[in-house]
Amino acid sequence: MKTKLIASLALILACGATYSLAATAGENWETHCAKCHGADGKAATKLGQKMKLKDYTNAASLATVSDADLVKATAEGVKEGAKEKMKGYKDKLSSDEINDLVKYIRAFAKAK
Ligand code: HEC
Repeated sequence: MKTKLIASLALILACGATYSLAATAGENWETHCAKCHGADGKAATKLGQKMKLKDYTNAASLATVSDADLVKATAEGVKEGAKEKMKGYKDKLSSDEINDLVKYIRAFAKAK
């Protein structure tokens, strides 16, 4: 009886933890990234269209880019020559948060 109770408590806690993790990446995306890349990852925002950002819901747009490259772009930013196209977020976000954001970005293409 007691073991059963502990097992269900553990299950509830485990679900809660997974949920809050996903919410964190979603919240970070919303706070830091959505104004350019779009809440839905399509970059159909004013800024996104101006900068001709990729539609992350289209699996082809990041097909040749590795997760490591996505992590690097998010952490270090994206430069074209000396010009900064996107600033890096390594001062604002932990590496766990950045890894979660990369999973979040990949999920846009899978959800379609
Ligand atoms: C001010 C607008 C802006 C914001 C805010 C922004 N980005 Fe970007 N992002 C860009 C631009 C511009 C590029 C370069 C696109 C290119 O070279 O075609 C880019 C590129 C990227 C890339 C490289 C892959 C690609 O699309 O070429 C990743 C990954 C990325 N951004 C993730 C993020 C994440 C995660 C956040 C939030 C933490 C974020 N960006 C916030 C503008 C932005």
